[in-house]
Amino acid sequence: MYQEPKLSTPGPSPARAFSETERKALHDIIAARRDVRNEFLPDDIDPEALRRVLEAAHAAPSVGFMQPWNFILLRDAEQRRRVHDAFAAANEEAAQMFEAGRRTEYRALKLEGILKAPLNIAVTCDRTRGGKVVLGRTHNRDMDLFSTVCAVQNMWLAARAEGIGMGWVSIFRPEDLRAILRLPEHVEIVAYLCLGYVSELFDGPELAARGWRQRLELDSLIMNERWEG
Ligand SMILES: Cc1cc2nc3c(=O)[nH]c(=O)nc-3n(C[C@H](O)[C@H](O)[C@H](O)COP(=O)(O)O)c2cc1C
Repeated sequence: MYQEPKLSTPGPSPARAFSETERKALHDIIAARRDVRNEFLPDDIDPEALRRVLEAAHAAPSVGFMQPWNFILLRDAEQRRRVHDAFAAANEEAAQMFEAGRRTEYRALKLEGILKAPLNIAVTCDRTRGGKVVLGRTHNRDMDLFSTVCAVQNMWLAARAEGIGMGWVSIFRPEDLRAILRLPEHVEIVAYLCLGYVSELFDGPELAARGWRQRLELDSLIMNERWEG
C-alpha cells in the first residue's frame, strides 16, 4: 500500500481560484508580452523591480526541483560590446542561410537590443546541479534545459508586468558567448536577454507586423489522441 512520505514542512492548504479580475490581469500580461529589440529606454531598472523579475524566474518549475539556473547580469558597456560583436558575426552567417529575396528582408530586421538595453542577463543551466541522478531527468537529460526555459518565460511575464521590456537574442555561435562569459564546461547558456523600460511596444509580434511570419490558427494546432494528418 502507498505510504505517503512524512512532510518536513506544513502540507497543502486550501486552494482558491483567482477572481475574474485577477485572471484577466494574467491573460492581459500574457497577451501584452512582446519580444523587444528597439524600444528600450536608457533608464536603469529599479533594483526592487529587477529583484521581483528574478524571484519570478526562481519560482519556475524545474525537473526534480533541480533549479539549474544562474543569472549573469551584464551592465558594463565593454562587455556588452563584446557580446554585440559576437552577435554581428553570427548574424552575417545567418543572413547567408536565407535565399536572396528573404535575405534582404532578414537584413532589414533588428534582432537584438544588446547595446540599447541598459541590462543584459545571460540565463545558464548547470547540468550537474542536483547530482548524477535527478528525479524526472533519468530518461531525458534535456529536462534541465527545459526547466531553465520555464524560468525565462516567468521573467518575460514578470518584466512585462513591471513595464520592463525583454528581448531574447539567440543568434550567436555558442562558443563565442561561452568564452565571453567564461562559462565552465558543465554550464550551458540557455538564453541571452536584453532588458529595460520601454517607450512603446508593438500590439502583436513585430515579426508579424513586418510581414515576416503570421500567427498560426490555434484550432489548426490542436489534435486528439494521436498525431493527426
Ligand atoms: C527561444 C527564442 C529565441 C529567440 N531569439 C530571438 C532572436 O535571436 N532575435 C529576435 O529578434 N527575437 C528572438 N526571439 C523572439 C521571437 O522572434 C518572438 O518571440 C516571436 O517573433 C513572437 O513575438 P512576441 O514574442 O513579441 O510575441 C526568440 C524567442 C524565443 C522563444
